[in-house]
Amino acid sequence: MQAVAAVPRHLAIVMDGNGRWAKKRHLPRFFGHKAGVDTLVKLIGTCQARGIEHLTVYAFSSENWRRPEDEVSGLMGLVIVAVTKYLTKLARDGVRIVIIGDRESVSDRLRRAWNEAEALTRDNKGLTLSVAFNYGGRWDIVRACQRAMADGLSAGQITEASLSSYLATAHAPDPDLLIRTGGEMRISNFLLWQMAYTEMVFSDCLWPDFNDAALDAALTAFAGRERRFGDVAPAAAR
Ligand code: FPP
Repeated sequence: MQAVAAVPRHLAIVMDGNGRWAKKRHLPRFFGHKAGVDTLVKLIGTCQARGIEHLTVYAFSSENWRRPEDEVSGLMGLVIVAVTKYLTKLARDGVRIVIIGDRESVSDRLRRAWNEAEALTRDNKGLTLSVAFNYGGRWDIVRACQRAMADGLSAGQITEASLSSYLATAHAPDPDLLIRTGGEMRISNFLLWQMAYTEMVFSDCLWPDFNDAALDAALTAFAGRERRFGDVAPAAAR
């Protein structure tokens, strides 16, 4: 099967480089994350305008708990502030917010903020913003197996399709494009199962500096890719 890539239906982003962005300005890392939220909110509007249906962002990984305590608590607080500041606008713009990740180990306050964001935007029909928070790809796969077993599925009933339906991203198609900013070229335990055939674009840009032009450059690179999903290249290209 060959498919001509146009606009990705589902864009996933690793928003890396906030800390370095702040350091360059002699600011605490928190200010990089704060600027990162503003960048994200701007980009959501652009993604909608470009026809992207799903945007999934890596906001806090299962491994980010290893960061210094003040940075972790700063990020948690930032999310609550961001929800307060932007939820009304996002809801008005038709954005549906879904949180993917382990909610058990976050504070009651944060859990309430996430629940409120999801409840308020549940019926929205615009872009679906999935926020990966306290998320890890391995956690997602293990949890999917546990949920399937709890539902009584037999070994024979575990298929790619059935397991996918237990993943945190069951509401979305697999990502077509991953953008990682900040110059690193790795997946960092993001959507491991879901990215089997995802195209990837790596950018040296630090996340707070990522703008419409940088997004459009990534979309142009994606449009030039030939997606083969494991098939051979067409004869002319061989
Ligand atoms: C990576 O930069 C970024 C993060 C670990 C956090 C990203 C989170 C946000 C932008 C906030 C999201 C909030 C909402 C409400 C969706 P880094 O700290 O690893 O930067 P560095 O590589 O320069 O140190």
